[in-house]
Amino acid sequence: MGLNVLVAGGAGYVGAHVCKALARAGHHPVVLDSLAHGHREAVRWGPLVEADIADRAAVGRAIGSHRIDAVMHFAAWIFVGESMTSPLKYFANNLGGSLALLDAAMAAGVRRVVFSSTAAVYGEPRQVPIPESHPTEPINPYGESKLMVERVLRWLDRQQGLRFAALRYFNASGADPDAEIGERHDPETHLVPLAILAALGKAPALNIFGDDYDTPDGTAIRDYIHVADLAGAHVAALEHLAAGGASLTLNLGGGSGTSVREIVDAVARVGGRPVPASFAPRRPGDPPRLVADIAAARAALAWSPRHSDIDTIVRTAWAWHTRG
Ligand code: UFG
Repeated sequence: MGLNVLVAGGAGYVGAHVCKALARAGHHPVVLDSLAHGHREAVRWGPLVEADIADRAAVGRAIGSHRIDAVMHFAAWIFVGESMTSPLKYFANNLGGSLALLDAAMAAGVRRVVFSSTAAVYGEPRQVPIPESHPTEPINPYGESKLMVERVLRWLDRQQGLRFAALRYFNASGADPDAEIGERHDPETHLVPLAILAALGKAPALNIFGDDYDTPDGTAIRDYIHVADLAGAHVAALEHLAAGGASLTLNLGGGSGTSVREIVDAVARVGGRPVPASFAPRRPGDPPRLVADIAAARAALAWSPRHSDIDTIVRTAWAWHTRG
């Protein structure tokens, strides 16, 4: 018996991949998306309710009419730089919108929530790899807004019986192995698509932000996780909660670090063409090294990354960008 899952933000990058994984696992995703950043054509595995998470009445109607069992929440503004210049925009949507969504869910008796959180809750890492017990001291409003929602979820767990999984993503990347969906942000700010678009001549030469970090090749290190692995972890978290499991707060990464230069080299190798690139100053707020400790996710979800090696990430992203 599949679950009816309201997927807020299901027309976006991670949300759409999760919808596909849900459908494959026998569940029934119902996408709720304002299409402010999401893409109508990415909604393929269930109905689309075109509404904002802040529209409490519309969310309530969607939950009632589709007999929703659980909510997955991906709907958020995601640009760290923009959050620094427009903090209220981020608190209004990412926190305010989430409160409306949660209010509607609670009123309808839905007590299972999977929430898209971020490594940005940690701020400057004091240790790497980063465990979930690391202090949470966000250095931008984006990360702060996600942490605030985590805190709200914890109170709803304590006081009102909500059970949640807060999943802290490191660098989501790659595309559906069948190339049905992929990564498309506007504006695009993420490394893997920008390197691919530069190699294809569809974007300007890549700026490599910083070659003077204290890392082996001088460029910054991140933990890239394939979006299909992210999706699998979401389905496992949902099923854990549906089976009566306790609330979880988990890192999701590939569990290893890759430098910007290694990504650029992988794109050139996989694509068979050079990536036009030049060095630029460090991007403000970028830590040198972010790598997830994923032991907790492995243990709690009986999950492990299967597609998160860099060649698979780049190969699937390249295939999607060059699809017919
Ligand atoms: N980078 C470049 N050139 C670019 C774009 C990125 O050199 O044109 C570098 C960045 O400096 C960074 C790495 O590539 O070292 C990855 O950058 P992304 O912008 O792809 O991703 P971030 O690590 O900055 O951000 C990710 C998520 C955010 C989240 C953050 C948490 O995309 O949503 O991790 O720390 F907030």
